[in-house]
Amino acid sequence: MSLMRDLIATLPDQLLWAAGVAVPDLPPAPEGLVLGMGGSGFAGDVAVAFAAGQMRRVTVHKDYGLPGWAVAARPAVVAVSHSGNTEETLSGVEAAAAAALSVAITATGGALVALAHESGLPLLVVPPGPQPRAAAGYLAGATLRLLESAGVVTATVPALEEAATVVTSLLEGPAEEVSQELADALAGRIVILYGAGPITAAAAGRWKAQINENGKAPAWWSLFPELDHNEIVGWGANAAAHRDVMAVVFLEDPDDPPRIRVRADLTARLMDGIRIAGRVGTRGAGPLARLFSLVVVGDLLSVLLAERSDVDPVPVEVIEKLKGMLKE
Ligand code: PA5
Repeated sequence: MSLMRDLIATLPDQLLWAAGVAVPDLPPAPEGLVLGMGGSGFAGDVAVAFAAGQMRRVTVHKDYGLPGWAVAARPAVVAVSHSGNTEETLSGVEAAAAAALSVAITATGGALVALAHESGLPLLVVPPGPQPRAAAGYLAGATLRLLESAGVVTATVPALEEAATVVTSLLEGPAEEVSQELADALAGRIVILYGAGPITAAAAGRWKAQINENGKAPAWWSLFPELDHNEIVGWGANAAAHRDVMAVVFLEDPDDPPRIRVRADLTARLMDGIRIAGRVGTRGAGPLARLFSLVVVGDLLSVLLAERSDVDPVPVEVIEKLKGMLKE
């Protein structure tokens, strides 16, 4: 077992930790705004998808400062950073505090935790670990619990518990089987993920990032129905090169609207000759469980691709190097 595999195996316990942790009281807010980058920003993607299932709005901001609308809209701001030191997220917290927005922080430590202590900002510390992307259950769970504390979403605890149950059963065999089959079809190729609604969009972004960071390989993602209005044409020229170099995985959810399913089937037919490595459906009942049912398969797939390329999935030296260079 590699370290990254061991970390993936902790995902159910991370989700259960988040279901049970004590959460600070936050003032009520009409909507949520999650600030976070990379592996931590994924917690925001999860919150967007979860809130959409409840007809509520959460926006994720993966940039410096705040989006222009935020000061007037007065969202509950949740800043999520595994290290607590990410400069974009810190700048957003400073801007939110300057505008007297409600800001809560979730991190393992670092400058954000120090700032929360100094300024009395609500804080939810998550357990430490070697990599942000391997703490998705902690970070997404903490973010959801904080948003519920602000009244933006509801019923996060049963959702986290269901997600833990579904991920546990997938880790007992099915996730490995599906990811092995995909790895056979994808090894050595550039992976393109196709999703549709909020759940598979979040999952497609996660698979892409995990293939990048664990697999040390390029990957991209696109969404139905938009991809049928541009990307579908892009497979036309140089078809032989595309056939040999790339492969597509469709991520699907039973709640995808019927027209999306028709589009996916027709698109697959029209992409004749381009390798479609698989069509992977969500499992579970609630949106969070369905999203994490795809997360666990993508996580395992990214480790398998790393193993086949003989690279270590854990370190992300170039990210650390860049962060160091930005400080010089
Ligand atoms: O996986 C990574 O290391 C990155 O994507 C980080 O998550 C990202 O750089 C942000 O750092 P942090 O999660 O500590 O806020």
